[in-house]
Amino acid sequence: MTGETKTGDARMGARILLIVGGGIAAYKSLELVRLLKKRGHRVRAVLTAAGAAFVTPLSLGSLTGDKVYQDLFSLTDEAEMGHIELSRAADLVVVAPATADLMAKAANGLANDLASTLLLATDKRVLMAPAMNVRMWRHAATERNLATLKADGVAFVGPGEGEMACGEYGPGRMAEPAEILAAIEALLEVGAAARPLAGLSALVTSGPTHEPIDPVRYIANRSSGKQGHAIAAALARAGARVTLISGPVAIEAPPGVTLVKVETAREMLAAAERALPADIAVCAAAVADWRAERDAAQKIKKTGDAPAPLALAENPDILAALSHHPFRRPKLVVGFAAETEQLVPHARLKLAKKGCDWIVANDVSPAGGVMGGDDNTVVLVTATAEEAWPTLPKDQVAERLAGRIAAEFART
Ligand code: CTP
Repeated sequence: MTGETKTGDARMGARILLIVGGGIAAYKSLELVRLLKKRGHRVRAVLTAAGAAFVTPLSLGSLTGDKVYQDLFSLTDEAEMGHIELSRAADLVVVAPATADLMAKAANGLANDLASTLLLATDKRVLMAPAMNVRMWRHAATERNLATLKADGVAFVGPGEGEMACGEYGPGRMAEPAEILAAIEALLEVGAAARPLAGLSALVTSGPTHEPIDPVRYIANRSSGKQGHAIAAALARAGARVTLISGPVAIEAPPGVTLVKVETAREMLAAAERALPADIAVCAAAVADWRAERDAAQKIKKTGDAPAPLALAENPDILAALSHHPFRRPKLVVGFAAETEQLVPHARLKLAKKGCDWIVANDVSPAGGVMGGDDNTVVLVTATAEEAWPTLPKDQVAERLAGRIAAEFART
């Protein structure tokens, strides 16, 4: 296990990015920070220019115990943490108070200051606690923006009804800090359930390898990378930090993974070792078992005589190397077995020979159309059991495998 916190239990100790907008309710955000800290959450604050008219960066910063971010174009801010990273290095983004202006910007995708840029750049859920004058809240424009934001997946808490600082009565008061805290923790809980692998890291190998014979020729196979890429995507969706090590493929890498492109088996092994430590390794690549013993510097020419024999050398076995790693063996190592006959007996032999924990065995006989196709029929072979899965699209095989991996980590 790496030294990271698992967001599965991160209701205590989540990372909150708090954007404080301009409004008299900003003072309540100081209390919100205090409550969040008391619950063990880490808070990083962003103060808008208008917000700074109501609370000072000094009071906010002394409560968060961190720097307060204010400028989009501040060299010191950017040197410490770029705005993209700032928007993503959090489990949840909270806007309190969310002014009519901030809501309008977020609803329309404007990004002309730090707060609005973060709201556009984030890949995390956003919770808004609106606060504004009752007429502003009831204005058709705000109502449109509210509907748009809700449709975009933004969550809301409040506003409450009551006497307002401006003397009017009605909805527009920011929710109380305790209410906002409850809404934050409810959202974190839902997030944790949907991301059972949060806090874990995974490496996935995918695609074929190309082994050069000379500058224009190489040894390859028919792997498309579809199954390996789908597994990387499913693990990332489940919250794992994924390094996808891919041989040459024609498909795009899924979003949210670190992609390392390689050509040969030896490059793939080096990249896999660089990706350690990792909690999970899934070797889905169809690694070429052999490479040309000599990679000719110039194109090999026909000489008129009998063709030159192609001498082969065996490639390193990445799955076996990870499974037998002396001090950084991933907790769970999953291999594939591409077979054309005796699927399960061959898979069992591979499990034992390579030292991995599970084997996803698939029949790659040309009649099945697995290589390059969209479906896969697999048997999951573990030390003690064999599970035959129905024929499924490759992304559903990936989804199931990610679910099984999450269950295994929950169990252990
Ligand atoms: N594998 C690997 N490195 C290699 C060869 C295979 O990491 N040099 C991995 C594959 O990614 C897969 C598993 O080992 O997870 C089994 O691959 P497969 O091609 O089915 O088996 P081989 O090792 O090639 O064995 P055989 O030739 O006996 O089928």
